[in-house]
Amino acid sequence: MSALLKAEAFDHAAAEAMDQYVIVKSTIYTSGERDPRKPPEHPDAKGKLHLMHHDPRLPRMPDQPTLFDFFKLRFGPSIHMLQSARLAQKNGCSEKIILACLIHDIATGGFIRADHGYWAAQMLEPYVDEEVTFAIRYHQVLRFFPDEAYGYKYPDSYLRLFGADYKPEPYLDRAYHYARKHKYYDAARLLTVNDLYSFDPNVHVELEEFTDIVGRHFRQPAEGLGFDDSPTAHMWRTINWPTRYL
Ligand SMILES: [Fe+2]
Ligand SMILES: [Fe+2]
Repeated sequence: MSALLKAEAFDHAAAEAMDQYVIVKSTIYTSGERDPRKPPEHPDAKGKLHLMHHDPRLPRMPDQPTLFDFFKLRFGPSIHMLQSARLAQKNGCSEKIILACLIHDIATGGFIRADHGYWAAQMLEPYVDEEVTFAIRYHQVLRFFPDEAYGYKYPDSYLRLFGADYKPEPYLDRAYHYARKHKYYDAARLLTVNDLYSFDPNVHVELEEFTDIVGRHFRQPAEGLGFDDSPTAHMWRTINWPTRYL
């Protein structure tokens, strides 16, 4: 079957599935756009079932999805993380820091932006060493706090994005002071130093360049992410099947 025919068949199957199912959005998708206290605006459900599995509008994930499957089928463009990992490699960082760079923003690209460092660290905790999740959780915090010893200053981009008057919330202040004294401070700080905020459109980096590092430092479950009964498997399942009714 040609690529065009395949795409048409996929569109047809998706349209058919859409006719069969009611697909509703979780409150978190719409909170703010609408008042979450109001009764949900459910589409007409007459003669339809509520979706409890794969969303027909999305590419289907393999039955035992790997980290790279999530990169390719569920996460947004990953050039920022790939270029950060490449920079860490160039700067002679350890493999764990390179891995941390490669996966540090998976929450912004694939799950939830607010507190993205915390969400990503939690998702990853069963699969990587604690140094990696510490770096990922606290990179979000340390980005707001300069450290001259590492040549890290407050990002110009944050001045533009948040304004000159923005002050980090007290919980970030507390987290910063906690991280400063932590044995893995260095790891989190190195992540902020290699967290590239200007993308170079001429630098091309492939995910596969990091296959070996991921193989050595990411404990990919044989059952697939989401199906291994780890304490965070539900988070991976939700990204895989984001619109199930329950
Ligand atoms: Fe980040
Ligand atoms: Fe980043």
